[in-house]
Amino acid sequence: MAYEDSCAAYRLFADFVGNRITPLDLRSMTKRLHFDLSGKVAVISGAAQGLGRATAMAVAQYGADVALIDRNVSGAEATAAAISAMGRKCLVAGTDVSSPAEIASLFEQVDGELGRVDFLGNIAGDGFLSAPEDLSIEDLHRVLQNLVVGRFAMCQQAGRRMLAQGSGSIMNIGSIASSTALGRGHIAYSMAMGAVVQMTRELSTEWSHRGVRVNCVTPAQVVNPSLEARMRDDPTLEGRFLKGIPAGSLGQPEDIQGLAVMLASDSSRWITGAIIPMDGGNTAMNAGGTPGHERRAVQTFRAETK
Ligand SMILES: NC(=O)c1ccc[n+]([C@@H]2O[C@H](COP(=O)([O-])OP(=O)(O)OC[C@H]3O[C@@H](n4cnc5c(N)ncnc54)[C@H](O)[C@@H]3O)[C@@H](O)[C@H]2O)c1
Repeated sequence: MAYEDSCAAYRLFADFVGNRITPLDLRSMTKRLHFDLSGKVAVISGAAQGLGRATAMAVAQYGADVALIDRNVSGAEATAAAISAMGRKCLVAGTDVSSPAEIASLFEQVDGELGRVDFLGNIAGDGFLSAPEDLSIEDLHRVLQNLVVGRFAMCQQAGRRMLAQGSGSIMNIGSIASSTALGRGHIAYSMAMGAVVQMTRELSTEWSHRGVRVNCVTPAQVVNPSLEARMRDDPTLEGRFLKGIPAGSLGQPEDIQGLAVMLASDSSRWITGAIIPMDGGNTAMNAGGTPGHERRAVQTFRAETK
């Protein structure tokens, strides 16, 4: 031990003995936050692009081996190439995450090739727009199958394995549409995303005392190819989105990375059942709000009497 280190250690001990710092302080001063995911296995759906790819890259960077799931197999393979270059093991599967049967065989493949499941990033999903009065019941079933039944089947397969090993973390992706109406034809999508939030709360309540945490991230508009196409079709759309985002810019897929690593790691040991906005402040501001201060003179809102 260097001379300076021994002096620092002595001063620390003296302070501790003198009761100037508590055992809790000492632990916080010496223990590093633990974001290391080495030895863990993550299953990430939607891994070909967007939030899924960004999540997969982040957990791999922190040490996890990753199962990359996407019906766009060549896109998932491109993600796998980048992750293999970091020295991690990868599995690529073209599973349709709206099919519980395909999901069951996916997890058998994960058992065989990666051996365990510590983190599920339940991310893949499609949007669907229709006026409520025109929505066919078949299309409604398809959206619910994709976003509710599919997300549940992924949770169930991952959850069984996590419960058996006594640990694990699930990150479901919902939306601001999980808790607020969007209009613009989002009826089926909103109904489904509302269910994803309640599924998260129920699973957390049932599983967290057995070591399995379940949380839900609810993004506002994050740039992806389908959003870009919609903004090209309607030049007023981006401005309308930005009016609802106090942070002043649309999200980028990478904005989920810190949250994903934290939720996958043991540093979020006591975070479960949480609905976590990733939305530039959209949820905090009610729909009638205006971003920023209007620079008017101070006004009181005291009720006036005649
Ligand atoms: N981007 C946003 O603004 C936003 C906002 C809130 C919620 N979300 C939700 O987050 C999730 C990911 O969004 P994104 O922006 O990364 O989307 P994205 O369109 O960029 O990527 C989605 C990926 O999921 C895959 N996929 C879709 N359905 C699948 C299926 N049934 N089986 C297998 N793969 C499938 C696609 O091939 C694609 O690679 C979606 O569920 C979306 O609804 C997105």
